Amino acid sequence: MTQYLTDASRPVAPAADTAPGAAAASAAEPRGWWRDAVIYQVYPRSFADSDGDGMGDLPGIRSRLPYLRALGVDAVWLSPFYASPQADAGYDVADYRAIDPMFGDLHDADALIRDAHGLGLRVIVDLVPNHSSDQHEWFKRALREGPGSPLRERYHFRPGKGEDGELPPNDWESIFGGPAWTRTNNPDGTPGEWYLHLFAPQQPDFNWENRAVADEFRSILRFWLDMGVDGFRIDVAHGMVKAAGLPDIGGHDQLKLLGNDVMPFFDQDGVHAIYREWRKILDEYPGERIGVAEAWTPTVARTANYVRPDELHQAFNFQYLGTDWDAAALREVIDVSLDAMRPVGAPATWVLSNHDVTRHATRFANEPGLGTQLRTPGDRALGLRRARAASLLMLALPGSAYVYQGEELGLPDVTDLPDEARQDPAFFRGAGQDGFRDGCRVPIPWSGTEAPYGFGPEGGASWLPQPAEWAELSVEAQTGDPNSTLEMYRSALAVRREHPALGAGTAVTWVDGLPEGVLAFRRDTAEGSFACTVNLTAEAVRIPAPGRVLLSSAQAEVVDGAVELPSDCTVWWAV
Ligand code: GLC
Repeated sequence: MTQYLTDASRPVAPAADTAPGAAAASAAEPRGWWRDAVIYQVYPRSFADSDGDGMGDLPGIRSRLPYLRALGVDAVWLSPFYASPQADAGYDVADYRAIDPMFGDLHDADALIRDAHGLGLRVIVDLVPNHSSDQHEWFKRALREGPGSPLRERYHFRPGKGEDGELPPNDWESIFGGPAWTRTNNPDGTPGEWYLHLFAPQQPDFNWENRAVADEFRSILRFWLDMGVDGFRIDVAHGMVKAAGLPDIGGHDQLKLLGNDVMPFFDQDGVHAIYREWRKILDEYPGERIGVAEAWTPTVARTANYVRPDELHQAFNFQYLGTDWDAAALREVIDVSLDAMRPVGAPATWVLSNHDVTRHATRFANEPGLGTQLRTPGDRALGLRRARAASLLMLALPGSAYVYQGEELGLPDVTDLPDEARQDPAFFRGAGQDGFRDGCRVPIPWSGTEAPYGFGPEGGASWLPQPAEWAELSVEAQTGDPNSTLEMYRSALAVRREHPALGAGTAVTWVDGLPEGVLAFRRDTAEGSFACTVNLTAEAVRIPAPGRVLLSSAQAEVVDGAVELPSDCTVWWAV
């Protein structure tokens, strides 16, 4: 007897031979695969290590594609695997057309894309156009050639202020802490110009006013589209255009303003011209190749600008990710998100975790209002219960959903990593004040009772230490256990594929008149109706059962037409 799924309704996972096959990314598919896609984020360093060096790699990912296929996701988004000195875990790219040797080579990438397509999985790669690595050929030449070099025009080089140019050209602060400018030395060794880096000093920002930059990225898009990728997740998609004259912001602690105000380096209207160009390129290719914006904007309404019909296809919904486990707040962000996307005709997207924020099992284990960078484990059992409920809520919403590797295992963040193990540049730049992103990047436990738990070969290492408790959370340990989070995700994704009212859509119908702290909505179609009920309170509540239980995140009893919803529980219903 499963805890959360009525036996009769248990869907059968689609057999391998019904997979769309290599033609998955062909034009024969109905339009809009991305409108309801569940997209799984693979963080290559931490997914699977084929050669035992402690670092995940492309052959490792390739070997685990059948797992993703069976999990039931539609597409895989791979965080950067390009040639990189890894100053920011690969978000500092030295060569956009090469694979870093730690991850493999272009043959491995080609084989991975082919295998994924063979399994009916689409592949989205990460593109990092806001900045390169300081080891990129252009930047190295710009430094070498000194002031006046045309290569300097491709970045933001400026003389400093003050008598000897000893002060940065403006007051912008790096997202990782400290000034957003670093002073260079001239070829003769004397102090020279400064260059802009919104992130680490090893990540100089490109100057998108420069034609060569725009041309180069159009060419890079084509390179990967020709390799067969189905789309791009665009890193810092809101950052490429800076306000004319690079004006001062005034005041310090600019980080606190991020997300609330339009900054002169983020979400400038000029970025949209870039996406209109890119959309034309994406549309030239068969099979609906997509662009997904990582755009941290002040409001969902501004996010919608990135997904107008002639721009990108999707944008991450960070407002949703940042919402606490609170019924009123969630209802509001769901409404606001759907309302913002409807006029532009783009699907809403939903996301709870990624490689930059504390995993939601840990966020919800802590008191609300602490943001998305936590360093306390909180109440683990509570966090897991809520995370399971939150995941079922997310997967019931209309549109597309993102799943970050390991959330299907209910993994918590690792909040006690020793300082010497940490690699997040924000940790060091912020003098330990912030930058706890390593905690969500700990390699995945696949099997066995000892580290690295099948992440790599037995006796191998993992680039960040895995906690001893993770033996119980491994894929192997959870497979076949009907109460496990992994089996809940597998069931949820299977139900989502099959139920006509789940997946794509533009609206939910809220059911009112329920106790405070309980959310309920319906999704009705001609082919069938669906309801979702969520109890976000600390007490069990009894409400009328809207139909037949399809799936639930914890045991929910239906007696005499009423359901007893336990605390922090989501139930899916066939109506
Ligand atoms: C994005 C990435 C993050 C990276 C930053 C700079 O926000 O998700 O990991 O540090 O961009 O590239």
